[in-house]
Amino acid sequence: MGAAMHRAVHQTLEGGAIFTDPYALQILDEQARANLPTMAADPAHRPMRLFIAARSRFSEEAMAACVARGVRQVVILGAGLDTFALRNPHAGVTVYEIDYPATQAWKRERLAQTGVALPPTLTFAPIDFEKQSLGEGLSASGFRADEPAFFQWLGVTPYLTREAIVTTLDFVASMAGSEVVFEYAEPFENYPPAMRANLIAIAESAAARGEPWLSLFDPSDMAALLQERHFARFEDVTRAELAARYYGDLGEGLRSSPGPHLVRAVSR
Ligand SMILES: C[S@@+](CC[C@H](N)C(=O)[O-])C[C@H]1O[C@@H](n2cnc3c(N)ncnc32)[C@H](O)[C@@H]1O
Repeated sequence: MGAAMHRAVHQTLEGGAIFTDPYALQILDEQARANLPTMAADPAHRPMRLFIAARSRFSEEAMAACVARGVRQVVILGAGLDTFALRNPHAGVTVYEIDYPATQAWKRERLAQTGVALPPTLTFAPIDFEKQSLGEGLSASGFRADEPAFFQWLGVTPYLTREAIVTTLDFVASMAGSEVVFEYAEPFENYPPAMRANLIAIAESAAARGEPWLSLFDPSDMAALLQERHFARFEDVTRAELAARYYGDLGEGLRSSPGPHLVRAVSR
């Protein structure tokens, strides 16, 4: 809900300048909508809001490039209230959303309440990354592991164990012609002290909600992990690079500060 609220504020406050999502507001419940003006008025939310908009833009651009070269399966890992499946402009592309069964039930309820019809191209595949392999869960939902896919995995890796992350990357790397875009966060000690305190506070509030951050990666550690999986190539994009690429005038003051990373990795 938090990420979806940031996307909604981005539409109203910044006109969706980085990422346009006509369903961002509609998918929220009454209480979340009531909290949007407070969120919009607090400048402390700006860096995270712009990053959340930019990560979707980056991922959906990579996805469009994959579709242009013939990929016809899109998998949204840890989909939450992501709305790509509702906006899917790619003819013949099927979308698989992965999340906890309870979260998917909640999303279906949200969509039913807002009157948004489920597109026939969308399949919900309930999977707990910590308990079930992605391959098993997907094949039970009609996914073809012998055909390439694009995987979007935004805002999820900090909440998973390293083992679950590695297993998922192994699965993507095993599928020829596939790609993944995912986000990861650096350890707190990599941040300057002024930013560190704020980050620790965010992590503590996530832990208090029962969603502790379990995995943070040094960029060199992440590069080694991707090399070991034998991806054909990968790029690691910093938040500052994303700001330079997408933020325009909105990026004032955010072009040099550290933040989460996005990785785009292409399998052989
Ligand atoms: C911060 S939200 C991001 C949601 C969405 N990707 C977005 O950008 O709006 C993290 C998502 O990962 C899902 N998630 C976390 N741990 C998971 C697990 N072990 N198995 C399946 N889904 C998980 C959560 O239910 C939630 O939907």
